[in-house]
Amino acid sequence: MIPSNLCDLVTFVPNKQEPVHNWLYYKEGYAKGLVEWAVKEFGLQEPVCDPFCGVGTTLLACKQMGLQSTGFDVSPLAVLASEAKTRNYDLGAIEKTLAEFGAMHPRPIGKFPNPKIRRLFREQQMDDIYFYYKKILEITDPKVRNLFLLALVDTTGRVANVVKIGGSLRRQKKPPLPVKKLFLGKVKKMLLDLRHAKMPAVEPAIFTADARITNLQENSVGSVITSPPYLNKIEYTKVYKLELGLFFNSQETRLRAYIADEAAVPDSAGAENGGGMRAHIADGATGRDSETRMPLIAKAYFDDMRKALRNMLHYLRPGGKAVIVAGGGCFPYETVESDDILIKIAEEEGFRCAQKIVARCIQCMRNRTIKVGTVRESVIVLEKPAQ
Ligand SMILES: C[S@@+](CC[C@H](N)C(=O)[O-])C[C@H]1O[C@@H](n2cnc3c(N)ncnc32)[C@H](O)[C@@H]1O
Repeated sequence: MIPSNLCDLVTFVPNKQEPVHNWLYYKEGYAKGLVEWAVKEFGLQEPVCDPFCGVGTTLLACKQMGLQSTGFDVSPLAVLASEAKTRNYDLGAIEKTLAEFGAMHPRPIGKFPNPKIRRLFREQQMDDIYFYYKKILEITDPKVRNLFLLALVDTTGRVANVVKIGGSLRRQKKPPLPVKKLFLGKVKKMLLDLRHAKMPAVEPAIFTADARITNLQENSVGSVITSPPYLNKIEYTKVYKLELGLFFNSQETRLRAYIADEAAVPDSAGAENGGGMRAHIADGATGRDSETRMPLIAKAYFDDMRKALRNMLHYLRPGGKAVIVAGGGCFPYETVESDDILIKIAEEEGFRCAQKIVARCIQCMRNRTIKVGTVRESVIVLEKPAQ
């Protein structure tokens, strides 16, 4: 049965009320309920794989259901969040480290090297964040270290003088919020969540990898639940510039929201999606693929999705299903319906399409005022034919 709130389940919004899921807000994510519904509705088998795992919604929901899972993502921030949310912790070790951090008095211990990032903070806040970051790196238990780092990532987003709007960061002066209070308060909240969670001990395998390249062992996965980046050119390096720059050395971690190779797409091309029900389209010339007549950015996106789908077909067991949430692309003078194109590609690669369920429709606007059309956000169910 299709849930009446499917249009919400394809968004991260319901996760805001879910302990552990809500440790880091990830606008690009979907809800825990989507995974629970998909597992029951389509009789999905374990291990479940999410090759675009984001902040670990699939992996954590599977853990909560006692299912084995594995996931990967190109973003080290996403992998950090996925890991921190799904580990089995020694709560005593977290409490002990929390007490140690509580007794610390943050002081300037040098300047964070990147001046562009420094400028996004008040000096005091930047000094405190840098102090705690260095102290976190000294934590020897990797699980506890990751949990504290995720708490600091969340705190950083709260105190920085920027807000995430659509596909970019906008400067916005905030009051001088207390880093220590927010950071330690976040760790306390995480600890409380873990105390009440009573989660099954099953731990997913999680790693940093590119879904276009990385393949798992043939026939090793029972099912896939995933949501690749949408065809809308939000630059993850821009949206998460702050976190990536501060904690992951962003120079080495360039990645783009859409899965496409940078080289294949001119920088001026494309569209931008506000992520809500209305998609705003950025101005800009879009080159066109001579064969398909698609905007180049769309062509590159689907070429990359083909690679990811081909890998999925390889590692799924015969009879295994892949449940994929996909959204269409908004371009200045046209829309591109990703779901149908992805189904066509999947079938060319050897999948059978079992179902397509439209979760919601998104209006595409040019210059925020001119309506270009609507695109769908759909749940596609593919099946690897039994041999
Ligand atoms: C729509 S989000 C997935 C969100 C996830 N379902 C959740 O609830 O958190 C898409 C994810 O794909 C990742 N990504 C982008 N290109 C990728 C690639 N080539 N290989 C693997 N992951 C990629 C992004 O970092 C992002 O986290």
